[in-house]
Amino acid sequence: MHERRLWSNLGYAVVAFMTFALLWHLLSTPPVLSPLGDAFTVYTHNSTVFTYPFQLLDPSDYNRLIDISFNFTITNFVCNETSPLLLVLVHTAPTNFAKRRTIRETWGQEVEGVKIVFMVGSVNSPELQKTLEDENRKYGDFVQGSFLDTYRNITYKHVMALKYTIYHCPQAKYILKTDDDVFVNMPAMTNFLKFDLSPYGASRVLFCTPRRHANVLRSYRSKWRVSFQEYPNRTYPTYCPGWSLLYSPDVIFALYCEAQVSEYFWIDDIHITGTLTERINVKHTDIEFLVISFKNLRNIVDFDYNVTEPFLYGRSDLEERQIRGLWRYVTTHSVPKSVLKDLQY
Ligand SMILES: *[C@@H]1O[C@H](CO)[C@@H](O)[C@H](O)[C@H]1NC(C)=O
Ligand SMILES: *[C@@H]1O[C@H](CO)[C@@H](O)[C@H](O)[C@H]1NC(C)=O
Ligand SMILES: *[C@@H]1O[C@H](CO)[C@@H](O)[C@H](O)[C@H]1NC(C)=O
Ligand SMILES: *[C@@H]1O[C@H](CO)[C@@H](O)[C@H](O)[C@H]1NC(C)=O
Ligand SMILES: *[C@@H]1O[C@H](CO)[C@@H](O)[C@H](O)[C@H]1NC(C)=O
Ligand SMILES: *[C@@H]1O[C@H](CO)[C@@H](O)[C@H](O)[C@H]1NC(C)=O
Repeated sequence: MHERRLWSNLGYAVVAFMTFALLWHLLSTPPVLSPLGDAFTVYTHNSTVFTYPFQLLDPSDYNRLIDISFNFTITNFVCNETSPLLLVLVHTAPTNFAKRRTIRETWGQEVEGVKIVFMVGSVNSPELQKTLEDENRKYGDFVQGSFLDTYRNITYKHVMALKYTIYHCPQAKYILKTDDDVFVNMPAMTNFLKFDLSPYGASRVLFCTPRRHANVLRSYRSKWRVSFQEYPNRTYPTYCPGWSLLYSPDVIFALYCEAQVSEYFWIDDIHITGTLTERINVKHTDIEFLVISFKNLRNIVDFDYNVTEPFLYGRSDLEERQIRGLWRYVTTHSVPKSVLKDLQY
C-alpha cells in the first residue's frame, strides 16, 4: 500500500518535473508563479547547470537567519567543482567527535556523486572552537554558523543547512538532511536516486517518515515541552522526524524562503517539515518501508544473517556498534540496482 502511494507520488513528481522542463523550454522569461512555483529549478540542455532564483531573495538575505543576523564561521565549498547527485547535511553537536568519526569511517566515506557536510553552531569555549577548527582542517567537512549551538537553537541549524544548499551547493540534485546517529545505506541510496527516481533530479520531493496528529507535549518533565505561547494548538500538523529528510532543490528553496519570513519555533523538524511544509503546500511521501525493521537490524548486527528486504536507512538513535555492523553488511553484500523493484508486491 505504501509502495503504491510512493509510485503514484513518484509519478506526480516526474510528471510535474517534465511539465516544468517543457514549460521552461517554451517560455524564455519565467512566468509569474505561486510561491513554490517561483522556486523552480533551471536545467540546461546538458543537465549540469543549475541555479536558484536569487532575485527573489532580499539582498541582505545571506547575513540573516530567520530573526537574527548571521555569518558562516566555517564554510567548505564541497560542491564547487562538481555537481553532486546528493548533498548530505548532517546535524551534529559540537562535542560529538566519535559520532562524526564513525560516519566518516563508514557510510560517509568518499562516494562518487555524494558530498557530506556536518552542521554545527558556535560554541562558547575557545578551546572547543580550536578543536573543531583542527578537525575541520583535517577533514574539510564542517559548516559552522554564528548562532550558539543549543537544542533550542536547532531550527537555526536546519535553516542554515537550507541556506548553505542554496548559496553554496545549488548543483546538488537531491538533498538529504540527517543526524549523526543514523545509518544511511549509501550504495542503495545512490541507486534509488539514479534508477528509481532520476539522475537529473526531481521536483516536489519530500521523502520521509510522516507522523500524523502528534500531540504537543505540555509536561514539565518533557525535554520537548512546548508552552501555550510557543504553540497554542493541541496537535502538530503532519511532520517528519528530522533524521531522514530527502528533499528536491525546489522544496529546499521554498522552505527556506518561508522560514526566513516566519516566526521562530524551536523544534526544527516540526517547524520545517510540518508547519512550513503545509504552508508551501508540499505533501510528504512516506518511505517508512525503506527504513530497516528492528528485526532485520538485529538480524544483521547481532546474528550476521542475510536479509532480503532492501533498506535506505538503518534507523536513528543507533549505537556505533550498529552503524559499523550495518556498514560491514552493505559493503559485503550486493545492492539491487532498483531498490523498489526488489520489493515483493
Ligand atoms: C554543460 O554546460 C556547462 C556550462 O555551459 C559546461 O561547463 C559543461 O562542461 C557542460 N557539460 C557537458 C557534459 O557538456
Ligand atoms: C558577521 O561578520 C561581520 C564581519 O566580520 C561582523 O561585523 C558581524 O558582527 C558578524 N555577525 C555575527 C552575527 O556574527
Ligand atoms: C541561540 O542563538 C542566539 C544567537 O547566537 C543566542 O543569542 C541565543 O542565546 C541562543 N539561544 C539559546 C536558547 O541558546
Ligand atoms: C567556491 O565558491 C564560492 C561561492 O559559492 C566562492 O566564494 C569560493 O571562493 C569558491 N571556493 C573555491 C575553493 O573555489
Ligand atoms: C492551529 O490550528 C488552526 C486550525 O486548524 C490552524 O488554522 C492554525 O494554523 C494552527 N496554528 C498553528 C500555529 O499551527
Ligand atoms: C549471505 O550473503 C553473502 C554475500 O552475498 C553470501 O556469501 C552468503 O552465502 C549468504 N549466506 C547465506 C546463509 O545465504
